Amino acid sequence: GEVSSIRGSLLEWYDVNCRDLPWRRKECDSDGGGEDDDHDEEERRAYGVWVSEVMLQQTRVQTVIEYYNRWMLKWPSVHHLASASLEEVNEMWAGLGYYRRARFLLEGAKMIVAGEEGFPRTVAQLRKVPGIGEYTAGAIASIAFKEVVPAVDGNVIRVLARLKAISTNPKDSTTIKNFWKLAGQLVDNSRPGDFNQSLMELGATVCTPLNPTCSLCSISSQCRAYAICEKDTSVAVTDY
Ligand code: ADE
Repeated sequence: GEVSSIRGSLLEWYDVNCRDLPWRRKECDSDGGGEDDDHDEEERRAYGVWVSEVMLQQTRVQTVIEYYNRWMLKWPSVHHLASASLEEVNEMWAGLGYYRRARFLLEGAKMIVAGEEGFPRTVAQLRKVPGIGEYTAGAIASIAFKEVVPAVDGNVIRVLARLKAISTNPKDSTTIKNFWKLAGQLVDNSRPGDFNQSLMELGATVCTPLNPTCSLCSISSQCRAYAICEKDTSVAVTDY
């Protein structure tokens, strides 16, 4: 059907075109460690996804890469971060702006470590952490723990708005709810994290606000805006 074709095209495209970003890299664990190692690896990944997603909320990818690498060298796990001071965290954050985000990371790390249940693994658990909203929870749960949940940010809204030619105000709360519902119907069951990132990545690199590169888009044949506008998707949602 249409949904599985969209999923397949997006995942195939993502496999070839995903940018090599530091928080996407897997630690090489070639000896095929046991279940404990897998669990630790998932938690390390979750921590890295959390840090990167919070940094990416108001800052460009190119800028985030440097800050992310420095942060992870200083605090390679949630346990390291939990014992940092607010001064150290703010110092590390200097230049990124919106310092509340750094404080939330520190407070969240302290809460996670105090809880003794390890890293929260589901959207429901993640939402209890200060500073983790629906998007960040969806990103962490799907990317690190394979929970089949959507993660909808501005890029994803633009891609979906064009795909379905939805022209209602993308900042309206009812419209946003509908995008979450649609994304929840599309998300791939076996690769939810890659699927969510394929939508973010398509929005960031191909389905851009102005002058989208429809000729490089793996789902242009299913895109209603493309069908309507014949290559001029600028008439569809550009406010994100
Ligand atoms: N923007 C925010 N998070 C992202 C991710 N995981 N991949 C691509 N772009 C993003």
